[in-house]
Amino acid sequence: MTRDQSRSAVGHNVETMASAADTTRRGALPTLPFTALSPTEVFAVEDTTAQFTWRGLPDGPLRLNVHHRSGTQPIEIGAAGDSGAADVDGFAAGTGTAVDVEVDGQPITRHLVTTLGALDGPPIAKIATISDLHLGADGFGLIRQLREPNGVEPYPLRCAKAAVREAQAWGAELLVIKGDITELGMPAEWDLFDELLDDVHIPILAVPGNHDTFAKRGSLDATTELRRRGLFPEPVYATDIGGATIVMADSTVPGHSYGRLGQWTEQLVQAVDCEQPAFIFTHHHLEPWRYPHIWPPGIRKFDTRDLLPALFEANPDLVISSGHTHRNRAYRHATGLVTEVSATKDYPGVWAGYTIHASAVRQVVRRVAEPTCAAWNDRTHAVVGGIWGRWSPGSISDRSLNHAWTRTYPAVDAAGQVTTSVDSQPTSGSAPI
Ligand SMILES: [Fe+2]
Repeated sequence: MTRDQSRSAVGHNVETMASAADTTRRGALPTLPFTALSPTEVFAVEDTTAQFTWRGLPDGPLRLNVHHRSGTQPIEIGAAGDSGAADVDGFAAGTGTAVDVEVDGQPITRHLVTTLGALDGPPIAKIATISDLHLGADGFGLIRQLREPNGVEPYPLRCAKAAVREAQAWGAELLVIKGDITELGMPAEWDLFDELLDDVHIPILAVPGNHDTFAKRGSLDATTELRRRGLFPEPVYATDIGGATIVMADSTVPGHSYGRLGQWTEQLVQAVDCEQPAFIFTHHHLEPWRYPHIWPPGIRKFDTRDLLPALFEANPDLVISSGHTHRNRAYRHATGLVTEVSATKDYPGVWAGYTIHASAVRQVVRRVAEPTCAAWNDRTHAVVGGIWGRWSPGSISDRSLNHAWTRTYPAVDAAGQVTTSVDSQPTSGSAPI
């Protein structure tokens, strides 16, 4: 695990400059003084990579000076100006490396990039997740006050397309969609989903979210729409990728914002009861406390009282990940890992990658880097006086982390080759993917 150890070399002056740029940008909202975003950030790390993000910098070429032990390596990562993100490779695993950021030769910030440790052996599989696309939404904020002009590709579709494009370039072999695909389940919104699917060239699994199942007048049935596209054969559906089991679980309660999983206890336990690591992907988050304490409501604690112990008894190497809250959080439960990953289309605007090894898994949550998406998502940080932008991203240790299995599993094959095919193993009879 890492902690964000970034610091500003010129601190207050840069913050002030970024705030001024934010508030003068077209359509920007005023923010509270303590909520201003840093002009540059290390948003994500893996073992050898780091994702840098920036916003509100003066125009000019943006350069990193990476201070390796062997010497300083200058890396041009694009033009500063508005918002952006770039992935930089070549860091040593499990170490801290100082990186200076400069624009047009002028120093801006210094970061200490602390990478995750390397995991043993080759990856078994790489999968990516997205959630809370809200295709069809036309504004963000408490009163949907943030909007874009007509004539541009709508931000929900634009951000989702960029997310799947970037996840596939990262090497994802399977795309998992954790619900809230549409804003209200309307026919035109499912048409937008088809447009997104045209950009996906790897197998896909999906579950609906509460926004897909609100059952508003004129909306389509989410189960039917997903099944029609071959993405959601059963409410609990398991498939193998390499040496891991992927379980998709429908947590929706039609017409309601909250979720439930308790009714699927038998099917879920059966699905994860295997001699390999297992992942459960679902829409709603597990509420850790007896009473709801954040909005939106998730899966109440009493609903999973019997489910969670049974799941971890059946498989101690279990990861459960959800969407719904539009925020990033991670915590350990028993021997497993539970994470929430934020949306594609509001701050910070992300997708998640899971690199699965025989001994551990690495989660990395990366911002959608496409510049117009980064710019839109940066605008949305200002909602609720900027508190949204402070609350939703979580810490870097919520987003980038290694989680060790309780044991090392056998290699996928004798040669240790990465398995790239996905074999369907339905738990209760279903159509093939
Ligand atoms: Fe959502």
